[in-house]
Amino acid sequence: MCKECKKTFYISTPIYYPSDKLHIGHTYCTVATDSMARYMRMRGYDVMFLTGTDEHGQKIEEKAKAAGVTPQQFVDNIVAGKGGILDLWKLMNISNDRFIRTTDDYHVKSIQYIFKKMYENGDIYKGAYKGLYCTPCESFWTETQLVDGKCPDCGREVYPAEEEAYFFRLSKYTDRIIKLFEEHPDFLEPQSRMNEMMNNFLKPGLEDLCVSRTSFTWGVPVDFDPGHVVYVWVDALSNYITALGYGNDKYHDYEKYWPCDVHFVGKEIVRFHSIIWPAMLMSLGEPLPKKVYGHGWLLLDGGKMSKSKGNVVDPVVLAERYGVDALRFFLMREFPFGSDGMFSNELLISRINTDLANSLGNLVSRTVAMVEKYFGGTLPKDTRAGDFDDDLIKDVSGLRDAYQAQMDKYAFQSAISEVFRVLGRGNKYIDETTPWILAKNEDDKPRLARVLYNLLETIRVCTILLTPFIPDSCTKIFEQIGAAGDLITWDAAEKFGLLPADVTVKKGEAVFPRIDMAKELALLEEMNKAKAAPQSEPEPEPVPEITIDDFAKVEMTVCKVLTCENVKKSKKLLKFTLDDGSGTERQILSGIAEYYKPEELVGKTIVACTNLAPRKMMGHESNGMILSAEKDGKLNVVILDDAVPAGAKLC
Ligand code: MSP
Repeated sequence: MCKECKKTFYISTPIYYPSDKLHIGHTYCTVATDSMARYMRMRGYDVMFLTGTDEHGQKIEEKAKAAGVTPQQFVDNIVAGKGGILDLWKLMNISNDRFIRTTDDYHVKSIQYIFKKMYENGDIYKGAYKGLYCTPCESFWTETQLVDGKCPDCGREVYPAEEEAYFFRLSKYTDRIIKLFEEHPDFLEPQSRMNEMMNNFLKPGLEDLCVSRTSFTWGVPVDFDPGHVVYVWVDALSNYITALGYGNDKYHDYEKYWPCDVHFVGKEIVRFHSIIWPAMLMSLGEPLPKKVYGHGWLLLDGGKMSKSKGNVVDPVVLAERYGVDALRFFLMREFPFGSDGMFSNELLISRINTDLANSLGNLVSRTVAMVEKYFGGTLPKDTRAGDFDDDLIKDVSGLRDAYQAQMDKYAFQSAISEVFRVLGRGNKYIDETTPWILAKNEDDKPRLARVLYNLLETIRVCTILLTPFIPDSCTKIFEQIGAAGDLITWDAAEKFGLLPADVTVKKGEAVFPRIDMAKELALLEEMNKAKAAPQSEPEPEPVPEITIDDFAKVEMTVCKVLTCENVKKSKKLLKFTLDDGSGTERQILSGIAEYYKPEELVGKTIVACTNLAPRKMMGHESNGMILSAEKDGKLNVVILDDAVPAGAKLC
């Protein structure tokens, strides 16, 4: 393909929150994107691979405060400091073409331009937001969207919040997004994610989206209304175009690369990418991305990894122990990209041993060793074909197409399986042709030479196709089998028989040494214990700071306990009838049955939060919350002097 006619391919990862060190789940997405980018480059495309960091928002502001540094210092350290995100991507051999930080000046300028443009065309208006806010996710939710009263994304507590805010007319775009989904059934993949978006968000109708905040300052200021900062998702999603120069002079690639070929994103942020992002682009009058791919999560013991749960796996530790390529390979080979996968050390080691050490590593080291042993490292030109050759050649020749069919569907696991099917065929070919027996007879030397040649060719083609996943190891294998230049390109993977007949090999170290599973697992367990010991307590989530106005919103009323009883079939709940001074009895359910017998509380003077939205628990309505104090696993209800009258307010 000539340089000028090169087709472009634009692929992105989400931009990561630099709130904590990244874990193996983040690495999964980035390695997948990197593998795809390398594959498309190998195919001759002019690739733009974008990744970066999403640095604004309340969560970062709070973390910085807790750490006693400015938000900018905080993110600088996590992104560019020693062992930070940039270092991790370097270690993992990530070949991104661009890295965007949402605190970069050019991006900030573009966000102000984008926000104003949507405002000026009437898609952003000023209003007041009342809702339930999840601080870690920076998201407002409605009551109906909550799951068990908690944030549907992360499962944490949400808090009632109200603020003057700008809104984006997302509702206006419901029909156009439905049409987009209907007319482009492959816009969002896998298909199950499309159904989820349709049923949960589009069919019920989209609600306008709150797109500015006044309760914190760490964000892009709305330049025409100081005090407001742009909602972090509007800021973050726009990175995909600002990084190409949209609304700024830093880059000039927008015309060349936009629309994006595919956004790789985790399943929990599919809504932002497949609904909100297209609506924003529609409002700006810009083309839409061609595809959003929502991949699954890497889980650990059934749950999503998170620092606060203390169950994160550190990619640096694994890469240092087993090698970067072994880790990259495992991530892409083990789990179907669209589904969740359960991570375990055992699975990792077993995959390294079976595929990399046995199947690939053995084939390479045995073949190269035999060429050295029987021919002094250079094959003779005089060779003879024989049984089993055609079978092997047929498999190798058909491999590139089979692999491509899977890669083009982002089915990394299946693409790699195709390669290992052929590597398995190669290993079987050794057993079938028994080179060690051929070596005993001088007349069979031409046959032996052809067998070894066929094996080198099998390795060459398979190694080309593994390059996007394990680039450095493939370079080492090519050196060992004497393949270079035009013989290791995408085009060269289609043809069998390209190595010169008198190829010279060069024995090297085992590319993937076998790991002793039992020893290694014991060692990892020791390491984990040592790591867990000094910090067995999970890190507490920082408590968000509130204003006096926030505090004033909570109504706390002195109540007398009229009745108290256990709730049937519940070990935790007690049901209270209270005199709250209003003249009407109030019913509250409280999860304190493990700490009190009901009769211990009857007649007591207690405090309840009385303006909490009503909630159903085990079929009973609860109108408020009884105040208790908890420490070290002990709980005490706040009990006041009986002289305090029912209905008195705490202030
Ligand atoms: N900052 C937003 C993305 C904005 S994109 C405009 C964000 N950041 S994140 O750091 O929380 O997550 C980044 C990506 O990592 C997401 O796609 C998320 O799904 C992915 N993963 C985080 N943990 C993961 C696993 N355990 N497994 C697989 N991917 C996971 O969301």
